[in-house]
Amino acid sequence: MQALKQAIDDARSRYASLNPQSQTAARDAERYMPGGNTRAVLHYDPFPLTMTAGQGAELTDLDGHRYVDFVGEFSAGLFGHSDENIKEAVIDALGKGIVMGSPTAYERELARLLCERFDSIDQLRFCNSGTEANLLALVAARSITGRDKILVFDESYHGGVLKFPSGGNALNVPFDFVLADYNDAKGTAEVFEQCGTELAAVIVEPILGAGGNIAADQDFLEMLREMATKHDALLIFDEIKTARLGTAGIQGMMGIEPDLTTLGKFIAGGLPTGAFGGRSEIMAQFNPKLGGTLGHAGTFNNNVLSMAAGCAAMGKIYTPQCAVDFFDRSEAFRQSLNELFATKAVPMHANGMGSMIAIHFSSTPTTKPADISAGCRSLRPLLHMEMLLQGVLVCGRGDMFLSLPMNETHFAKGRLALESFIDRHRPLIELVLQD
Ligand SMILES: Cc1ncc(COP(=O)(O)O)c(C=O)c1O
Repeated sequence: MQALKQAIDDARSRYASLNPQSQTAARDAERYMPGGNTRAVLHYDPFPLTMTAGQGAELTDLDGHRYVDFVGEFSAGLFGHSDENIKEAVIDALGKGIVMGSPTAYERELARLLCERFDSIDQLRFCNSGTEANLLALVAARSITGRDKILVFDESYHGGVLKFPSGGNALNVPFDFVLADYNDAKGTAEVFEQCGTELAAVIVEPILGAGGNIAADQDFLEMLREMATKHDALLIFDEIKTARLGTAGIQGMMGIEPDLTTLGKFIAGGLPTGAFGGRSEIMAQFNPKLGGTLGHAGTFNNNVLSMAAGCAAMGKIYTPQCAVDFFDRSEAFRQSLNELFATKAVPMHANGMGSMIAIHFSSTPTTKPADISAGCRSLRPLLHMEMLLQGVLVCGRGDMFLSLPMNETHFAKGRLALESFIDRHRPLIELVLQD
């Protein structure tokens, strides 16, 4: 639509004129990295901001603008940019030796903290990223069951080689994936009936993150638990983002125990890591003392900086009580956005749960990826640009991930930016959604 294109072009040209140094940096980066980019989600037009510093819940860019950081490193930034406990833990670990090539107390302690937090995790192993955790959970499931097929959900995201926007992605690992629709309990149960005996695993995000922060219905997850058990397939909960919600993620909230859980993002305080774990008889396959068939390796699985930061993050800061308080505070903010949209009578909704939010252009909550309209998708770049122009950093697709150092001033700034976006563009929003 021409009016929308014009509005986006106008916002982009205001943005470009305010950010000459980021523009030059983006151009320079193109010399050695395709598109100047090494992480797809960080690209947006006309060029992404280069950040130079972070403090608490705020970031400063190369041109000296300050932003409230609602990107929150796509949920890994739970602790913000300068938590003293995490800094201290990393500096202390640095002083004691960085590459010890041996077990250390750090991974022992972090494993204990995580196993004690999640009832379904008797034992776990660490790796380097969420993608790796999911790959390991899936190859383990294939090896343990002797089956090949993996049930996944359309629009789900389990890592750079495990993403299913509109079904698939050229970079995906060549596994035998079977696709079903998220939150479609009936259709998914039928898939189980058709090929359940060939399924090694079903992997699911309890909140579809990149797909729009769409929460799973309890009935849907319970059906997955029942059907996976019935067909001897492993149920894998990818709680890489959702583990931050409440004391023990969605599994804790809903009282559903998966066979395996994957973790990552925030559990090492913002440093790289991943973990997968579950029932001890499954994890025993990885036990080298038992001659376990699954000899899981990885130079940096227990890297001391991540493990030390994780001990501070999960032991000192994100205690179960802190997680509960943060959930309540975040949920109140999310509700306040929905109150704003209702007062303004604008078709927008803050989807998600607690500190995982996605702004959708719809007057009702989005419960399935298919409910996201083309109009909603086409308005996202405008929302993104207009928020940046007001010093509020949100993800290109409209996600907001809250962090612990955020306070009422940050929340108010986020709300105010949304309000002025609505005041400026309401007729256009209505026009695009009618189209
Ligand atoms: C639900 C989910 N699973 C897996 C991943 C992959 O994690 P990583 O980027 O650490 O590989 C992500 C990352 O965004 C995620 O959101």
